[in-house]
Amino acid sequence: MLNFAIQTAREAGNLLLEKFGRISSVTKKGDINLVTEADLASEALIIERIKSFYPKHSILAEESGEAVVKGGDASWKWIIDPLDGTTNYAHGYPCFCVTIALEHAGEIVVGVTYDPTRDEMFAAEEGEGASLNHKPISVSSESRLSESLIVTGFPYNFRDIPNFERSLKEFLLTSRGVRRDGSAAIDMAYVACGRFDGFWEEGLNPWDVAAGKLLIEEAGGRISYYDGSPFSIYKPPICASNGLIHDQMLAVLRPRD
Ligand code: IPD
Ligand code: CA
Ligand code: CA
Repeated sequence: MLNFAIQTAREAGNLLLEKFGRISSVTKKGDINLVTEADLASEALIIERIKSFYPKHSILAEESGEAVVKGGDASWKWIIDPLDGTTNYAHGYPCFCVTIALEHAGEIVVGVTYDPTRDEMFAAEEGEGASLNHKPISVSSESRLSESLIVTGFPYNFRDIPNFERSLKEFLLTSRGVRRDGSAAIDMAYVACGRFDGFWEEGLNPWDVAAGKLLIEEAGGRISYYDGSPFSIYKPPICASNGLIHDQMLAVLRPRD
C-alpha cells in the first residue's frame, strides 16, 4: 500500500506540475480560501486510482468530503489533500504538494507527501521509519529553541484565533527564525527530515496533517496539543517538533490570561 500511495502521489503531483502556471479557473471557497481546476483534477485522479485498487476502502478527500463504500470495510480510510498550498499554486509560487495517508482502525499506517517541483517524495509506513526519495530521514538534533528554525502557517480564519499574534511574536523573539511557506504538509515533511526543528499551527484539517503526523513520528519527532496531550488529526491545533525542543515550544504555546 505504501508503493501504491507513492505511485499515486507521483502521478497526481506530475499532473499539478503540468498545469502549474496555466490555471484559468480559480474559485473562492471563502474570503481567501481558493480551489483551482488543478485541485479538482488531482483529487479525481487519486480517487479513481483508490477505487480501482481498493474498492472497499473509505475515502476522506478535501474537495469531495467523506465517502464510505456500502458493504465495504470502513476500517480502512484514505485521507487526501490533492493540492496542499493552493494559494501558492494559484499565484505561481512553487511550494505545493500532494499528500495522501491511509488510516486503519484509527491509526495512520501509511503517509506520503510529494513535492513535484523539487521531485521530493517523503514517505512513511508505520513501524518502518520515514524516507525522502527512498533514503531514511530523521528529525534534527537541535535541543535549543534559540538555535531552531521554526515554521508555522496562517489558517484562513487566523483573525478569529486567540493568542495567535502573541505566540508568533514570542517565537520570533526566542528562535533563530520563523518561516511561513503556505503548505502545512511540506512544513511537516521538513520537520521530519530536519530542515525545520518545529512547527505549530491552528485550524488545520485531517487531510493537511495525516501524512505529516506519521512522517514526523516515524522520523523520531513528537506531536501534541499545546498542553502536551496526545494529538488527533481530527482536531486542531498542532505542535510538532524534533522532540528535543517540544517542551520549550509548549511553554510558548500554552494558553494564558
Ligand atoms: C492550506 C495550507 C496552508 C495552511 C492552511 C491550509 P490548502 O491548505 O496547508 O499552509 O496554513 O491552513 O488550509 O488550502 O492549500 O490545501
Ligand atoms: Ca491543505
Ligand atoms: Ca488542498
